[in-house]
Amino acid sequence: MGIDLKVKIGSLELNSPLILASGTCSLETFAFLKPEETGAVVLKTVTLKPRQGNPPPRLAETPAGLLNTIGLQNPGVEKFLEHEIDLYPSSYKLVGSVGGETIDEYVEVAKKLEASNRFAAIELNVSCPNVNKGGIEFGRDEMLLLELVKEVRGAVSLPLWVKLTPNTSNIEKIALETSRAGADALVVTNTFVGMAVDIETQSSRISTLSGGVSGPAIKPLALYLVYRVAKNRNVAVIGGGGIFNFRDALEFLIVGAQAFFVGTAMLVNPLAAKEIISGLKEWLAGHGFHSIKEIVGTFREPS
Ligand SMILES: Cc1cc2nc3c(=O)[nH]c(=O)nc-3n(C[C@H](O)[C@H](O)[C@H](O)COP(=O)(O)O)c2cc1C
Repeated sequence: MGIDLKVKIGSLELNSPLILASGTCSLETFAFLKPEETGAVVLKTVTLKPRQGNPPPRLAETPAGLLNTIGLQNPGVEKFLEHEIDLYPSSYKLVGSVGGETIDEYVEVAKKLEASNRFAAIELNVSCPNVNKGGIEFGRDEMLLLELVKEVRGAVSLPLWVKLTPNTSNIEKIALETSRAGADALVVTNTFVGMAVDIETQSSRISTLSGGVSGPAIKPLALYLVYRVAKNRNVAVIGGGGIFNFRDALEFLIVGAQAFFVGTAMLVNPLAAKEIISGLKEWLAGHGFHSIKEIVGTFREPS
């Protein structure tokens, strides 16, 4: 007996709850995926103008985690649409991730992505910790975020996902305002700000002082944020941060995420997505479930 993997994020139906996280997969990744088992693939964040990104070293391994300071390297939206987008297989739902320094930039990039007719949804990256301007500033200031989401909502008709930052103390309020402003889904969460020191040189192990931490090290922290945002149940939540196996994915679904994303795990093991889906199917069937939807939000609060 098969498990129905289909989930709905707002009005958008996905083949599966598994979403590939922005910035962590490349064209080569598709060799390890199957369209019928993949909900969506969020492509690397693009900005209006090309960005060189931060100098090397950009990555440092930390216990159970990865510290990165890529700095949103990308060729700019026009070159991306001209030279790169057609290389991606059309059998997958692609999500365009938008970054910017101003509201106008976000709006312009979102409009260009929509006009290409290649995307099933737009994700606003308002949570990159590794750029000097834009990014996280939007994600932390709820008034600014509200205005940004409203402006983009008014300019494009594709489903709008907003990727929130964990680096704030008021994620519930930010989530509520974002959904009121017209977001169809909240993606929780981007990387946590952290640092690592080379004790021999007494300097940062990456080229910038701090970077974004991902991987299993952040899973309990991300899970708690997803729980808090999903509790309000007013908007779809795509949860993730440190998901490495099907058990991790189940935890996010149980606390209320309708779908989950996988990032760093794919850098370590390109078969992670495939293994997570087969593990999920087997576990659900073994526990008497018929569909993914049945396990979502089944968390029992401690009495
Ligand atoms: C190398 C690297 C590059 C990333 N680039 C982006 C990006 O361009 N845009 C974005 O929204 N998130 C980016 N992220 C964050 C991931 O999409 C994800 O939110 C984060 O890594 C937490 O999930 P994980 O622990 O499963 O990796 C990046 C993460 C890594 C490790």
